[in-house]
Amino acid sequence: MNSVVNALEIVLADTYALYLKTQNYHWNVEGRDFKPLHEMFGSQYNDLFEAIDVIGELIRGIGSRTIGTFEDFSKLTNIKGGNKDADAEHMVADLLHDHELIGQTLGKASKVAQQAGDGVAASYLGERMAVHRKTAWMLKSTLVK
Ligand SMILES: [Fe+2]
Repeated sequence: MNSVVNALEIVLADTYALYLKTQNYHWNVEGRDFKPLHEMFGSQYNDLFEAIDVIGELIRGIGSRTIGTFEDFSKLTNIKGGNKDADAEHMVADLLHDHELIGQTLGKASKVAQQAGDGVAASYLGERMAVHRKTAWMLKSTLVK
């Protein structure tokens, strides 16, 4: 299979898994900081939702069919399932870890795209790296006491 497609499928699986986890934390977060965290998780999962569509369509643009089942995603993703009962601080720390992890996955995928001469995919993957770095910064700042 096309190596860029392969790398994009892992990015798609990770982004979908993090989208699901972030929305779950948006629903279940509790405590004194409920409102800002509920809203921050809300804007994060909306960003992930939009990215999912672009990644899927990048794969189609290359000419492959795009994966799209929980079975496919769970086979490929590096993101672990969340804990709906976690406290707010653990939810933030968990998401921080995942955004840093996706940053690494994107870095690898971007290298694969560059080596394959696919500037379109490489450039979008670079944009996503910037978004995840910014989100990681925001989550990290939330944890400062
Ligand atoms: Fe909501």
